[in-house]
Amino acid sequence: MPSPVPDFLYGTAWKENRTAALTELALRTGFRGIDTANQRRHYFEAGVGEGLAAAYRAGIVTRADLFLQTKFTYQRGQDHRLPYDSAASLAVQVAQSLVSSLEHLGTDHVDSFVLHGPSSSYEWTDSDAEVWEAMRKERDAGRTRLLGVSNASLQHLEQMEAAHAELSAFVQNRCFARLGWDREVRSFCQQRRITYQGFSLLTANPEVLKHPPLIALAEGMNATPAQLVFSFARAVGMLPLTGTSNAEHMKQDLASVGLTLPPEAVQVIESMVR
Ligand SMILES: NC(=O)c1ccc[n+]([C@@H]2O[C@H](COP(=O)([O-])OP(=O)(O)OC[C@H]3O[C@@H](n4cnc5c(N)ncnc54)[C@H](OP(=O)(O)O)[C@@H]3O)[C@@H](O)[C@H]2O)c1
Repeated sequence: MPSPVPDFLYGTAWKENRTAALTELALRTGFRGIDTANQRRHYFEAGVGEGLAAAYRAGIVTRADLFLQTKFTYQRGQDHRLPYDSAASLAVQVAQSLVSSLEHLGTDHVDSFVLHGPSSSYEWTDSDAEVWEAMRKERDAGRTRLLGVSNASLQHLEQMEAAHAELSAFVQNRCFARLGWDREVRSFCQQRRITYQGFSLLTANPEVLKHPPLIALAEGMNATPAQLVFSFARAVGMLPLTGTSNAEHMKQDLASVGLTLPPEAVQVIESMVR
């Protein structure tokens, strides 16, 4: 029985030599979803694998309890530490990147394999189409259960829909409150039963965390502004990510799952920044 998609994802970017310990700590604290990428520039995926192995050894979780997500990153998003042969076709690069991820993570399949970002900021290109078809083949071969796309605009998604028989199960985007919390993309996803994963919910929205009505609401609920943002994200259908490196924040972030915002509060937060 595959593990269900959890209600929070722990992000492993920018943790370098703390990656293994923080991944293990996140699992000990209760996270069951892990987000990484085979992009050494921002992620130390082998360190994530070490953290998983430590958690398995300690009997905290088994592989079957976890939702593991990784990404394929085009060469322009990488540094010199490539997980594939840059002279190979994109389809081969996708396959090589995933084989390397599986090695890093010590598993024979991931739960989600995500295109880190389309090749152009403006449109869904032939390169993206080649990569997407290669990703589908990986899914059909059982090396990932689900597929996703990240850093995608509404235009990317509409063009992707026109070009392919199959859309992604996930869209993972940076979520700016001033853009209605990515309203257009969220609504595209909602209509097609795509799960929207929101990242940078705190770091992209410092103005929200300082907003007096949100602070007052948080105090009234005996919660922190950060917890309210995560709780809000869930209330509008997002699957939030956090990449906290702080043990107390890990607990607080997970505890936000148990907070229920009154509908009026959801409305206030959704429209508080225009
Ligand atoms: N697809 C992409 O292109 C992409 C891009 C960026 C990120 N991501 C993914 O998303 C994950 C999360 O990244 P992110 O951009 O959301 O930023 P982040 O790295 O998670 O940073 C979150 C910030 O919020 C703080 N924070 C977390 N919980 C808090 C709490 N309860 N109270 C107060 N502060 C809190 C953290 O500080 P402390 O550490 O002190 O708690 C940190 O400064 C990444 O690790 C990565 O997996 C994906």
